[in-house]
Amino acid sequence: MDIFDEIIRCMKEEASSSGNVFVRRKDLAEFMGEQIPAAVRPAPAPQAVPRIELPEEPPAAPPAMMRKALPDLSNMNWQELHQCALQCAACPLAPTRTNVVFGCGAEQTELMFIGEGPGADEDAQGIPFVGRAGELLTKMIKAMKYDRSEVYIANIVKCRPPENRNPSDDEAAACIPFLKRQIELVQPKAIVLLGAVPVKYLMGKTGITRLRGNWMEYEGIKVMPTYHPAYLLRNPAAKADVWKDLQQVMAYLGKL
Ligand code: URA
Repeated sequence: MDIFDEIIRCMKEEASSSGNVFVRRKDLAEFMGEQIPAAVRPAPAPQAVPRIELPEEPPAAPPAMMRKALPDLSNMNWQELHQCALQCAACPLAPTRTNVVFGCGAEQTELMFIGEGPGADEDAQGIPFVGRAGELLTKMIKAMKYDRSEVYIANIVKCRPPENRNPSDDEAAACIPFLKRQIELVQPKAIVLLGAVPVKYLMGKTGITRLRGNWMEYEGIKVMPTYHPAYLLRNPAAKADVWKDLQQVMAYLGKL
C-alpha cells in the first residue's frame, strides 16, 4: 500500500462516517501531483546501486622531507663529521635509510677505497662493503697485503639508494662534502675508486673501461680507478685487469 492508497482508505473511512466524500485513487494522485510533501512522498523503489570499485587507498605518503642544508664540514673532526652524517637530511635518501653508512677503517692511513653507496646489507649494518661485493673487496685488500682495518673504506653516498640503483646527481652532490672531508682527514697516499660512480662524482669523468688502470690525481693524491667488486662477481674474467690495477697501487705504496 502506498501513500495514495492510505489517503483513500482514510477518506473512505471518513466518507463512511460522514456519508459525503468519495475519491478515486487516480484523481487524488493527479490532484496532489507535485505537491505531495517530500516527507510523505512514497520512497522510490530501491534500485540496485551498481557497485563502484574504488581504487585502494594509496599508502600514506611519507612525511614531507624537509631538506636541510649541510653545515660547513671543512673544520670538523671525525666525531663531529660522523655525528653530522647521522643527522643528515640533505637529500631524499635520508628518510628511506635504516642506517647511515659513514665509512670504516683506519682514520689516518695511506690507502683508501671509495665505492658507490650502501646496498641492503650495508644499510642494515651501517658498515660499508659487508655484502658479497664486500667479501670480494676484503679479499682484494688482503691480496694487496693489507688488513681491512688498516685501510679506510667509504662511499660516494652514505645512505642506500632504493633498489640498489646508482645515486642520482642530486644525491651525490648533497653527500660529497662528507667524502671530501673524510679524504682530508684520512690523508691517504693513494685512493682506489671502485667503479664508474666514484669516478664520475669525485673526478667528474666517465668511461670506466677506458679510465681503469690509469693514474689520476685528486687534490695531490694519486687515484686509481678500477672495476667495482660487484662487477667482478658478474664478470670474474675481469679480475685479471683489476689485479693489474691494484698491483700498480701496491708498487706505488712499496708493497711489491
Ligand atoms: N657497493 C658499494 O659501492 N658500496 C658498499 O658499501 C657496498 C656495495
